[in-house]
Amino acid sequence: MYTYCLIAISGCVERLQFEVRCFLAVDKESKGISSDMGMKRRALLATGTAIAAAAIHQVWSAEPGVAQANKVVNLYSARHYDADNKVYQAFFKKTGIKVNLVEAPADKLIERLKSEGANSPADVLITVDAGNLWRTQQAGLFQKVPTSSSLYSRIPANLRDPDGFWFGFTKRARVIIYNKTKVKPGEIARYEDLADPKWRGKILMRSSSNVYNQSLVGSLIAALGAAKTEAWAKGLVANFARPPEGNDVSQIKSLAAGMGSLSVVNTYYLGRLAKSSKAEDRQAVEKVGIIFPNQKDRGTHVNISGGGIAKHSPNRKAAQLYLEYLASPEAQKIFAGNNYEYPVVPGVAIDPVLVSFGKFKEDKLNPKVFGGWNRAAIQLMDRAGWK
Ligand SMILES: [Fe+2]
Repeated sequence: MYTYCLIAISGCVERLQFEVRCFLAVDKESKGISSDMGMKRRALLATGTAIAAAAIHQVWSAEPGVAQANKVVNLYSARHYDADNKVYQAFFKKTGIKVNLVEAPADKLIERLKSEGANSPADVLITVDAGNLWRTQQAGLFQKVPTSSSLYSRIPANLRDPDGFWFGFTKRARVIIYNKTKVKPGEIARYEDLADPKWRGKILMRSSSNVYNQSLVGSLIAALGAAKTEAWAKGLVANFARPPEGNDVSQIKSLAAGMGSLSVVNTYYLGRLAKSSKAEDRQAVEKVGIIFPNQKDRGTHVNISGGGIAKHSPNRKAAQLYLEYLASPEAQKIFAGNNYEYPVVPGVAIDPVLVSFGKFKEDKLNPKVFGGWNRAAIQLMDRAGWK
């Protein structure tokens, strides 16, 4: 039986508050929080890194006797999806290794790893977007996974770091969406077309501070070169219906409400709204059409959610086992499926809502390439006036 407790620890590090949450599956033998969790808390509270509202979850087995002492993996995750809890529980059932979770935005986790240095309790960092994986690698915060690992054979080469420092575990496509009353299918086919003056004042776009757009621009730099991409970005900015605002969901809803004709979003947000329990969400997504761009040339920009073993992982073996588990068919189905992402391992079934979006040709550009263009992309967007 699972119980849930919420402990607010206030007035601690750097005047910020930490929210510590733990999921406990209490069996008859369990007397409460384990000593390693206690150590974990002390370590976390001792760190000087500023992370507001960091959350720590611990997954225990519901089955008495499965737990094994000292088997633990400390996971820093920027994924903010409830479905991931199912993965932690399934991993524990399979291996007896408990998952301690620290959850925060990627930039906060990267800063935290830097400040913890060699004393970091982190074993694994999982984040969204290749730009964040690239930044983590650049900061020397990952360690290489031995080439003997099954990760190399299970995950296609274009979805992992060529040097073995990080691996993609889910895919998401960044697609063009259109308001069905304003645009006909076939009127736009490529990202490049978003700069066409015929869309003047008709495009809704998220801020350039968002890493998803930075990675898309990075992929354009790789395909077109920096000069052409900058000209494209200027044309796109000239077509904005309003200054950039809101997240991907906000773009979908604003588009459905008729505030623009086109936008660009990640596929899983469309999946989430399509499967939402709220009628207004489902109605919003019904009003928009999806275009997988660049089908006749390089393919649609695909990004990953992925991770690697932390440089100073104290439980390195468990860390590698956890990553290998994420690439198993069982975990792929949960990890990707519950958030309407695409699995990276070939042959794993995708959610029916993704099937309804249709098949598409993916841009096979390695995330390392567009991740590597991240800084240039930010500067270019800035020069183009993309707020
Ligand atoms: Fe997202």
